[in-house]
Amino acid sequence: MVIENSFPTPQSVNPRAASVTSLDGADEPHAVSINPRDGEWLDANRAQWDERVPLHLASDFYDQSALRAGDGRLTPIDEAELQGLFPGDDGRFRLDGKRVLHLQCHFGADTLTIAQRGASVIGLDFSPPAIRAARALAADVGLAERTRFLIANLYDARHALPEPDSFDVVFTTWGTIGWLPDVAEWARIIEWFLAPGGTLYFADGHPAAMVFDSTSSPSAPLPEFAYPYGDRNPLILDQADDYADGDAVLTHTRSWEWAHPTSEIVGALLEAGLQIDKLGEHFEVPWKMFDQLVPTGDGMFGWPDGTPWLPLALEVVASKPGGER
Ligand SMILES: C[S@@+](CC[C@H](N)C(=O)[O-])C[C@H]1O[C@@H](n2cnc3c(N)ncnc32)[C@H](O)[C@@H]1O
Repeated sequence: MVIENSFPTPQSVNPRAASVTSLDGADEPHAVSINPRDGEWLDANRAQWDERVPLHLASDFYDQSALRAGDGRLTPIDEAELQGLFPGDDGRFRLDGKRVLHLQCHFGADTLTIAQRGASVIGLDFSPPAIRAARALAADVGLAERTRFLIANLYDARHALPEPDSFDVVFTTWGTIGWLPDVAEWARIIEWFLAPGGTLYFADGHPAAMVFDSTSSPSAPLPEFAYPYGDRNPLILDQADDYADGDAVLTHTRSWEWAHPTSEIVGALLEAGLQIDKLGEHFEVPWKMFDQLVPTGDGMFGWPDGTPWLPLALEVVASKPGGER
């Protein structure tokens, strides 16, 4: 399979990045070279994620009651796909005896939900408070024996966890690669960790939807174009709000984010040696991505009147050739 795109290279001029902020405070847009393992981008993003952890732990958005009652749930999109891949008798997916690596695990809610379905799970995240909270939550729900939580930048994962070819599933969902500068390396890392025959499950906001923003026009009937689809430069944002806590005013307001087109994501996984088993597009997403979205039940949000304007979520199932499933 050949995946092609003709997006401009990262050296191209990015008018939007300049209008959000410029790298050195000057008005000129900059082409940027990013070191995935170090730099201002990493420090800024980690500081912001560290600050979000206590807010999220206390939020309704990350309600832990079902998890604490022994019955955690992933989003309906994840649940349906994983049930198809790893069917359980009661209509819920089961991963008994499987080893799962959860990348960008935040405070471990999904990690522990996956452990409740029988897996041994390692969660990895670069935020120390997130990992401390995950370890405490694991102890609270009686899953400390079958879970392990590591603090590491995604790009240092192979050093933090030197276990190549050893996971049946790599799971990474909802709010992941937008924080990562280098998707090609992300894909190589996933391939490196998967056992032959192992499965990647990825779901996130759809790259096509990520071009919109509603904050400049909350009363408009639909969100408006704000970010070019093919932009390869970082989008450096300065925002004090938090998606999970409407009252939050963050002090670490600066973040570095990246738009990754669908062809870049799928192309990176293929280039890394994985086989694409499924590419799914959904008109729902598990957070209020735009002011104009409406609740559709089960914590999901969709377009007003159910009009399928553009997909809001992208799902990719990929596998590493070889082995047995
Ligand atoms: C939106 S959250 C993911 C939440 C996830 N859906 C969950 O609840 O399991 C994004 C996570 O990515 C982590 N993160 C962002 N950049 C990272 C990096 N370079 N390396 C490791 N973790 C990172 C953040 O600390 C945060 O916990």
